[in-house]
Amino acid sequence: MRHRIVLIIGGGIAAYKCLEVIRRLKEHSIDVRVVLTKAAQEFVTCLSVSALSNERVFTDLFDLNDEREIGHIRLSREADLVVVAPATADLIAKMAGGHANDLATAVLLATDKPVLIAPAMNPKMWSHPATLRNVATLKQDGITILGPNVGEMAERDEIGPGRLIEPEQLVAAIRDHLAAKKHSRTTGLDLNTRALVGKHVVVTSGPTHEPLDPVRYLANRSSGKQGYAIAHAAAQMGAKVTLITGPASIPAPQGVTIIAVETAEQMHDAVHDALPADIAVFAAAVADWRAAKVPRDKIKKTSKKPPTLKLVENIDILKSVGTLKSGRPPLVIGFAAETTSLLTNAKKKLKSKNADLIVANNVSEGSDVLGGDHNKIHIISRAGTDTLAKMSKTDVAEQLMERAANLISKAKAPA
Ligand code: CTP
Repeated sequence: MRHRIVLIIGGGIAAYKCLEVIRRLKEHSIDVRVVLTKAAQEFVTCLSVSALSNERVFTDLFDLNDEREIGHIRLSREADLVVVAPATADLIAKMAGGHANDLATAVLLATDKPVLIAPAMNPKMWSHPATLRNVATLKQDGITILGPNVGEMAERDEIGPGRLIEPEQLVAAIRDHLAAKKHSRTTGLDLNTRALVGKHVVVTSGPTHEPLDPVRYLANRSSGKQGYAIAHAAAQMGAKVTLITGPASIPAPQGVTIIAVETAEQMHDAVHDALPADIAVFAAAVADWRAAKVPRDKIKKTSKKPPTLKLVENIDILKSVGTLKSGRPPLVIGFAAETTSLLTNAKKKLKSKNADLIVANNVSEGSDVLGGDHNKIHIISRAGTDTLAKMSKTDVAEQLMERAANLISKAKAPA
């Protein structure tokens, strides 16, 4: 299920940063309905906000059409979370006083959802007793205050607390809030149990690049999204996570140790260096072959015939860990990327690689799995096959780590 937030943009110089916030939230498949205060409209336009959010922008409390279609009550209730950024001194004062004389304040007073605010203002305004009093009131009301950061202000020579937190910090806070909430409400899973505290989880992710010469390489369409989501979910559940990633251009998850590699051979070495582990998850789409020889110089079009590539098979990293005689992680999880005979091939991989679980997914053209945001998986173990509905890669990661936590609690510790 997709999440939706209402983002109330206040009238401060930092309002422009919210455009980046909206873009990043959309990348994480979070829907954003934006309310612009009157003052905010001096800093960002409805047009740019609606182009990024892909939704109409809400500005007026007394717009009859809005009241009929979607008024402040619906706006505030249909969201999972209400976020205010930048929260100006004036908006904070109105919230603390319970005002409701414009759409933003009416939404804030009407909502029954959690509220996060990211203040931004001049340091003197932030440290004024009135603001401090208002912020304390909001905290008492259960509102989460993010920041402000300390730094240089738009006004020359002013340094101090008052800068809006950075877009990535705000997006991370929003996602953490949604993740914690989602688990109690939709799936019944609870990441807050921190069921992986004290466990070491190693995750491989992304494609590998196998050089053909100094400028060319062999690769595949993997984006690394599934592996990154698994690393993030494990970290949220309290695990120490080592993420060994091939080349990927997506933001790194917070709170995990990242080891960047290029080739299958480097990934293999990094995985074995990272052991011992309690859980090893092999989500990488490792290139099966590499060039038998990599010339030092670029291959030139000298002869009439195109060159013939001689390939050799790469080492199977999952199998090398699954079949370890000593130091095998108690829980070894592989993936099976198939375009035909999905379950039959995946079951073969469970055996041949000596994995405990295989996550089977169909990567045929049009399945939108490689590079996409969703996945439909079957979890195969020796006990049987469990088929899950199509869901976001974040949800897949959380479901998988939840099962892993259950299984590991029954397994013995690593040797
Ligand atoms: N894998 C690995 N090292 C390799 C090849 C694959 O660790 N050299 C892992 C993948 O990370 C995945 C599992 O093995 O967890 C299955 O990968 P997949 O690409 O589906 O299958 P392959 O073993 O490569 O076999 P095939 O390409 O013939 O389907």
